[in-house]
Amino acid sequence: MEPPRLIDFPRVVIFSGAGMSAESGVPTYRGAGGIWAEYDYERYACQRAFDRDPAAVWEFHNLRRVRVAGCAPNSAHRLVARAQRLHPSLSVVTQNIDGLHQLAGATDVLELHGSLWKLRCEDCGATQETRQAPLLEVRCRCGAHWRPAITWFEDPTDEEVFTAAAEAIRACDLFVSIGTSAVVFPAAALPRLAARSGAVLVEINPEPTPASALHALHLRGPATEMLPLLAGGLPD
Ligand code: APR
Repeated sequence: MEPPRLIDFPRVVIFSGAGMSAESGVPTYRGAGGIWAEYDYERYACQRAFDRDPAAVWEFHNLRRVRVAGCAPNSAHRLVARAQRLHPSLSVVTQNIDGLHQLAGATDVLELHGSLWKLRCEDCGATQETRQAPLLEVRCRCGAHWRPAITWFEDPTDEEVFTAAAEAIRACDLFVSIGTSAVVFPAAALPRLAARSGAVLVEINPEPTPASALHALHLRGPATEMLPLLAGGLPD
């Protein structure tokens, strides 16, 4: 199958995972050098850990803030943002919390798993967004620890974001998965929703995934090299 052109489809969804940011230097979660090979999420990235030892959770999340703050959007992030500007209906649905799609200029990004840069206080309900890295004041004015506004394992999903993502996916004609291992649900169910909705699915990933069979085309390479194959005809 010839790579489809984004510009030829009325409604496009870009569905990204950690592999989208790998070439920016942001570690992925699984595979070589993956975060979960180094850190046990049950100690550093779940509600139980936060309730038990918020300082340890903050030590891990401040390490991530510092690491990601040193990473810039790559050419694939920039191409997604440019395509969104030039295309009548292109939605960005990401599992990533790094904010690199937004730094590259993408708008209305649906962050299925929240954001490394957003915080909420579970005691007084305050929220804030800051890219300070490391976060120097980990306590809210009320004295409680800020809780990273990230959807950790075992957290309920953000219904509003998932509903918006499902709506965009049900309506799309082209669904491009970029850099996801497709193993973490409910996000990993979204390619199947796209297939059921009759969209053409393209998978950009150097490796096959459990969702590969749902995709009509597999571009087996890195995002920065594969995404441009879909960008034909985009006006300069
Ligand atoms: N370009 C495209 N894909 C890449 C690249 C690259 N340069 N480098 C790696 N990949 C692929 C890997 O082959 C892998 O399939 O990106 C995928 C990354 O998989 P994960 O690390 O599992 O990331 P992701 O799928 O986003 O994880 C989903 O799991 O830990 C939770 O909440 C976390 O959002 C995350 C979710």
